[in-house]
Amino acid sequence: MSAAIDAEALLEQAKAVLRANDVEGIFIKPGTYQYPHQWNWDAALVALGLSHFDRPRAEQEIRSLLKAQWKDGMLPHVVYHNGASDYFPTPDFWQIERSPNAPNGLLTSGIVQPPILATCVRLMHERAKDRKASLAFVREVYPALHRWHRWLRAARDPENTGLVAIVHPWESGTDNAARFVEPMIRVIPSRVPPYQRKDFLHVREDERPIQAEYQRFVYLIDLFRQWNYDQETIYARSPFLVQDTLFNALMYRAQYDLRMLARELGEPTEELDEWLATTRYAYNARLWSEAHGLYFAYDLRGQRLLQENGCATFIALFAGLASEHQARRLVEEHLLNPEEYAPNGTRYFVPSQAKNNLFFEPRRYWRGPVWILINWMVSEGLRRYGYHELAETIRQHSLELVQRSGFMEYYDPRDGTGCGASGFSWTAALTIEMLAETMMPA
Ligand code: DGY
Repeated sequence: MSAAIDAEALLEQAKAVLRANDVEGIFIKPGTYQYPHQWNWDAALVALGLSHFDRPRAEQEIRSLLKAQWKDGMLPHVVYHNGASDYFPTPDFWQIERSPNAPNGLLTSGIVQPPILATCVRLMHERAKDRKASLAFVREVYPALHRWHRWLRAARDPENTGLVAIVHPWESGTDNAARFVEPMIRVIPSRVPPYQRKDFLHVREDERPIQAEYQRFVYLIDLFRQWNYDQETIYARSPFLVQDTLFNALMYRAQYDLRMLARELGEPTEELDEWLATTRYAYNARLWSEAHGLYFAYDLRGQRLLQENGCATFIALFAGLASEHQARRLVEEHLLNPEEYAPNGTRYFVPSQAKNNLFFEPRRYWRGPVWILINWMVSEGLRRYGYHELAETIRQHSLELVQRSGFMEYYDPRDGTGCGASGFSWTAALTIEMLAETMMPA
């Protein structure tokens, strides 16, 4: 089925998307219309893509994000550099001024997103041609990255289990994934403040989270602002408290990458070593199900594994958390299974939800569509474990999707129809990343 990829044309188009989404050289918005501010993990991935052709602009993207770091080290999920827009929540909805830790002079959200930034900084650094300048940049941002990870461990793992908790599905970056259905049922949205959804302005309603979820998203924000974003209260009282597969895998990978940077800088690594050891142990002890051959998120409120089969299970490969045995089970029993993820009736790897999962919907946000970020991470993870051919197939599928349907937020795995937001920056950034393997000298 493989379509020929016009790599040069795709590369130029991808760069053009990033340039077009650049807001005055301060930040790159994740989508042309839908997401007009700076998002945490989007910014990291955008910097990674930019670094191939404009390293100074990539550094600027990271500096802009880090400027919004809270005084206690938290790195917020959205930064409103340019004030309000037609996006909801508006900056004032968060009421971050209630927290003594809110940054001075910048409006942000009050929750976080998956910590992929340190990984992107390390990848950028590894490939940098000007080693000295790159090391100077690493030296500049390292303290902020370290504080961010220290915050995660302190605020979100106060019991020192090795796994951090998320308190809102938006923190997972995969808002309406099936693994959150059960814990969200426990969230009873009494007294939801008045608000108006704006996410249908630019994207079809049937490609976005359903209203029952959205009510709960807003309700949780309202609780956190009433609690003045006090992390102790949030951890103790949030009705949603989940040790997530994707979030913890990315945190582990980022800790590892941070450690590599620390060594190069001559910084101490003992604390990072301890984090790595505890996370690695807890991830496998708590989240792996030998009965299913899958990793599952753990619901701290319900005290049980959330046994929904979704793409988050494969991020352990990207992180290097899986043993050879676990990797084999993930790949051979699940990723290659045509009833779950492999093409058969569908055309493209990797649906974000297993196709035989009860909640699978091929066009609804994180309930089934293919996301280029997930494909990139799965493909990189497969390489790590020696599945080179499959990794290459997934890379090809990703480039084909982009060439066929443009730089969309996600794609229907059945026929490749582009869905969600258009002019999507991380799709462009990761297209550059994936093309770099074949086009640009290392
Ligand atoms: C949204 O607005 O849908 C985002 O996922 C929140 O970060």
